[in-house]
Amino acid sequence: MYKTIIRPLLFRLDPEKAHHLTFSLLKNFGSLASFFLGKPIEDPRLEREVFGLKFKNPVGLAAGLDKDAVAYQQFSDLGFGFVEIGTITPKAQPGNEKKRLFRLIEDSGIINRMGFNNSGVDVAVERLKKNKGVLIGGNIGKNKITPNEEAVNDYKICFEKLFDYVDYFVVNVSSPNTPNLRALQDKEPLTKLLGELQKLNREKPKPKPILLKIAPDLTDEQLLDIIDIVKETQIAGVIATNTTLSRENLKSENQKESGGLSGKPLTKRSTEVIRFLSEKSGKAFPIIGVGGIHTAEDAMEKLNAGASLVQLYTGFIYEGPELIRKINKKILETA
Ligand code: FNR
Repeated sequence: MYKTIIRPLLFRLDPEKAHHLTFSLLKNFGSLASFFLGKPIEDPRLEREVFGLKFKNPVGLAAGLDKDAVAYQQFSDLGFGFVEIGTITPKAQPGNEKKRLFRLIEDSGIINRMGFNNSGVDVAVERLKKNKGVLIGGNIGKNKITPNEEAVNDYKICFEKLFDYVDYFVVNVSSPNTPNLRALQDKEPLTKLLGELQKLNREKPKPKPILLKIAPDLTDEQLLDIIDIVKETQIAGVIATNTTLSRENLKSENQKESGGLSGKPLTKRSTEVIRFLSEKSGKAFPIIGVGGIHTAEDAMEKLNAGASLVQLYTGFIYEGPELIRKINKKILETA
């Protein structure tokens, strides 16, 4: 039904308008979704315990779709085992100028240069206060106007304000759409950033898992540095990967747009990064695998490469909520 009726209608609209329409439909008619799409699969064999948290199933919604924590309940009702909100910054910011979101239909991809458009941490907190049991990841970043030397402060503000309302944190230093953000992936600034957040975390009666989200464009050497940093700062794990700057083997006209590329063109590289981190670290920490999962087989490859959980964004846009069910069904078949 999604691919035959809903997607053709949505794909006739400008991508950002389609996004807003989907959100208002979800908010208003989300409760009818299971009537049309069938009830999500629930099975104890899908449950996972990762970094001390219990997930109802291992398929989550990746960051960037529900940036402002507007529809996490509805996404959970569609079958997602967890929902990552954000990237959230301390203050609201409009993001980059429109147009900033592009479909690459022939490649089953998306290019975006949204630039952390979001309503700010306080608005998200108010919405999260109404949460009745959805497992939430809080993906945090810095405001565009904050210089990198002061970035730590922005992450600390988001961390403190969200602490009581999310289950795990994600430190996002890998978006290509905030100028210089990715410089924070270098060993020294990254160790400092994660070290300071862990210091705050350890002062809490019950610290929360902190994960690092990385770019797929890192070299092997940089990935080895990431392993060292995770071990040194003792953060809970890694999310691999964010969008790529690469433009290899694309067919669509929109490949000329600047921004981060996601979807099928990313599938292979993000799985390679997962496998590399898992093997070279000796499975020292959990990995959430994300990037170009469009089929149940894509998800299995990431799990087999060393991911403990997976997340969807672009595959969900192209394939619809049915993809969550297909992945969970496949996991059950192989359980
Ligand atoms: C993203 N992604 C993203 N990631 C993040 O950490 N913070 C964010 O704000 C966003 N925003 C965002 C917007 C749009 C339009 C897209 C397509 C993606 C990245 C996303 O979470 C994911 O890591 C990548 O898109 C790769 O997965 P998929 O899309 O190939 O499944």
